[in-house]
Amino acid sequence: MTKEIRIAIDGPAAAGKSTIAKLVAEKLGYTYIDTGAMYRALTYKAIGAGIDLDKAADVEALLPGTEIELKAGDKGQTVWLDGQDVTDEIRTDAVTNGVSAVSAHAGVRAYMVDAQRRMAEEGGVVMDGRDIGTAVLPDAELKVFMTASVEERARRRHAENLRRGFESSIDQLAQEIALRDKKDSEREISPLTKAEDAALLDTTSLSISEAAEAIMDLVREKVD
Ligand code: DC
Repeated sequence: MTKEIRIAIDGPAAAGKSTIAKLVAEKLGYTYIDTGAMYRALTYKAIGAGIDLDKAADVEALLPGTEIELKAGDKGQTVWLDGQDVTDEIRTDAVTNGVSAVSAHAGVRAYMVDAQRRMAEEGGVVMDGRDIGTAVLPDAELKVFMTASVEERARRRHAENLRRGFESSIDQLAQEIALRDKKDSEREISPLTKAEDAALLDTTSLSISEAAEAIMDLVREKVD
């Protein structure tokens, strides 16, 4: 494969985007960019600063002094906030439940979108998020909108939590996921929505490798 394309993967929480995007990036030798981690890092900082997450001006005031970096390492991607490794800290419930409020603010989105576009400038990227195909990279060569049923997503999050050593309730996770879907889809700026030219991939009954292979088929159509 010669051309290094930009692949945009969007979809609701816990649809398998990051796992599958990472695998596709690995197969292609591309850079994987987890844009949700960037919103999470800012949310972690805002919580630590005791800021009301619904107050746009207060959250946005943090941005000029904030440095968020995604680094590729042996154990996968790590997330750095102002020089500190926050890879695990950004996955706590407090951050997960606060991130929709932070990511709804116009100034926050403008800052993140700008940073994400710069990261994708060279091509050869798989970027996952909610607005990659619609707002960040509207001219990405390949766009995929990945979904799965709420029940299946809650089961997957539960299994992931167990692997990380956390206990959780599938019913509660399903409620939280449904609420986050609602907030992400109904927010005013860049709501979660499928780009018209995105391929729809429902992963409810697909394994990780089957879903990755489905994307690889789409990639081959674009680059061969
Ligand atoms: O993919 P994730 O669950 O780590 O994303 C966390 C939150 O960040 C998600 O609830 C919505 C927001 N987000 C966003 O608004 N735009 C993106 N491109 C990525 C994530």
